Amino acid sequence: MSRGRHNRSWLKERQRDKYVQSARRTGYRSRAAYKLIQLDERDHLFRSGDVVVDLGAAPGGWSQVAAARVTDSGRVLAVDRLPLKPIKGVEFIQGDFLEPSVAGRLRALLGAAGADVVMSDMAPNISGIRDSDQARALELTLSALAFADEVIRPSGTLVVKAFHGDALEEIRREVRRKFASVVVRKPVASKDKSSEIYLLARGYGV
Ligand SMILES: C[S@@+](CC[C@H](N)C(=O)[O-])C[C@H]1O[C@@H](n2cnc3c(N)ncnc32)[C@H](O)[C@@H]1O
Repeated sequence: MSRGRHNRSWLKERQRDKYVQSARRTGYRSRAAYKLIQLDERDHLFRSGDVVVDLGAAPGGWSQVAAARVTDSGRVLAVDRLPLKPIKGVEFIQGDFLEPSVAGRLRALLGAAGADVVMSDMAPNISGIRDSDQARALELTLSALAFADEVIRPSGTLVVKAFHGDALEEIRREVRRKFASVVVRKPVASKDKSSEIYLLARGYGV
């Protein structure tokens, strides 16, 4: 298929997509917001007053959902390479999370008390070269895990995007060593043809 035809069919599919339509209607910045809403409906991720870290936050759907759930007494700290238009209740750092200085700024903003929930929806730009795309996706997942291990409060929660593949079982085992429970979730809003899944880990250090 030519690139033009491919783009047109992608556009059509997107226009038909009920989550894209709902997001437009309700003011969510992304269809991805519905993935977090569905995870939260099932697993009750947030409490009022929680401190939440959102890695790979742009354009901001997950941050919008988290800010509403933690209410004014909580905090949402968001990071992305791309800019993020301001969202009430969300503190934002723009930068590449793989740069140690960016994680350092986030740590400083969080302070010693740490986070109740760390979530990462980070995904690399797809180059089409399978091995390198997988390696970059894995690097992002692992960097989110390492950061979570530093800043999550005892009993805290982790939600991290990962992809089906060779490394998934190993990642899951690694997460299980640090948390009381780990499950794999595939919210309905996550497209079947995407190999993305979310690891949901609860009870850090318990
Ligand atoms: C699927 S989108 C996130 C959508 C978001 N959860 C929402 O609801 O709007 C993935 C994001 O990860 C970001 N990202 C990828 N690699 C990153 C990195 N190394 N540092 C910071 N952000 C990164 C991308 O810029 C992109 O905005």
